[in-house]
Amino acid sequence: MPENGNSAELVLAFLAEAGDEFVSGEAISGKLGLSRAAVWKHVESLRGQGYRVDAVPARGYRLAAVPDRLTPLELRPLLNTHDVGRELHWFEEIGSTNDQAKELAVEGAEHGEVVVAEAQTSGRGRRGRVWSSPPRRNLYLSVVLRPDLPPARAAELTLVASVAVCDALRHAGVEAGIKWPNDLLVSGRKIAGILTELAADPDRVQWVVIGIGVNVNTRAEDFPEDLRGEATSILLERGGPAPRALFAAACLTALEEWLDRHAEDGFEVVREAWRERSVTLGKRVSVLADDREVVGVAEDIDPQGALLVRDGDGEVHRFLAGDVTLLRSR
Ligand code: BTN
Repeated sequence: MPENGNSAELVLAFLAEAGDEFVSGEAISGKLGLSRAAVWKHVESLRGQGYRVDAVPARGYRLAAVPDRLTPLELRPLLNTHDVGRELHWFEEIGSTNDQAKELAVEGAEHGEVVVAEAQTSGRGRRGRVWSSPPRRNLYLSVVLRPDLPPARAAELTLVASVAVCDALRHAGVEAGIKWPNDLLVSGRKIAGILTELAADPDRVQWVVIGIGVNVNTRAEDFPEDLRGEATSILLERGGPAPRALFAAACLTALEEWLDRHAEDGFEVVREAWRERSVTLGKRVSVLADDREVVGVAEDIDPQGALLVRDGDGEVHRFLAGDVTLLRSR
């Protein structure tokens, strides 16, 4: 529950946390120290701001719909985090949230500051690819992190982020899996991607920017033609739109939870979680990295997060970066 914010925000946060469940007026008033009449008044005020709140006698209240914007006004009350997203920078349109977050990081942004945009005009993917970023359909956000890590361990954070986004997608009812290192796929189609950029001294990471792009309410016709067979969205998978603000909050909350676990327990717990969600391990793959291509079976990720692929001659190749294509088994 956020520590600050007015009572209507607290009621909103309470309802958001309950997800699809009803919560009784009594439970809300008990938890927040408000009278039942005050709870009703705040529900009415939320309705006036565009939130749809169902009220059913003997069951209570349920958050049925939130305004489809990602401004701090919508996002902040939904966030149950200590650092991630406490400072939010919102843009109706921007070149790339990663570029903006990098600028903020250089200027001294705090750990957890988030840049979020309704549209990107130069959205970037890995390896210089374009990231399709139509307005008000999807999630485009970047998080500035200041982890206490040596540069050699920075790649672990990309896997932390992929586990977190995978969990948020599954929570939203979409059975996503992770293709190494950090593509989120549903039935072989890409639904989300992560772009990590950083600056480091020889012995310490200065900052990391984790850029997260999720296809939330993209319709088939919103994708560029060449992507239509390869990409999907929550809307296409569920057959109905998803509230972007709730999904954004779920992503940021999951990200912070996994960052905390990583900071406290180390990479091994993330590695195990990544393996459980992987759609790469045990599969025949082709890996393209710099000028070499290796075809073989993806066996594991090692304690640094590198992918281990055994080729037809039994030789194991190690990749710290690269593009994986899943092949049909023979
Ligand atoms: C990939 O799979 O290639 C990574 C895609 C990352 C896209 C996100 S959208 C928000 C952030 N801003 C960008 O320009 N890129 C990332």
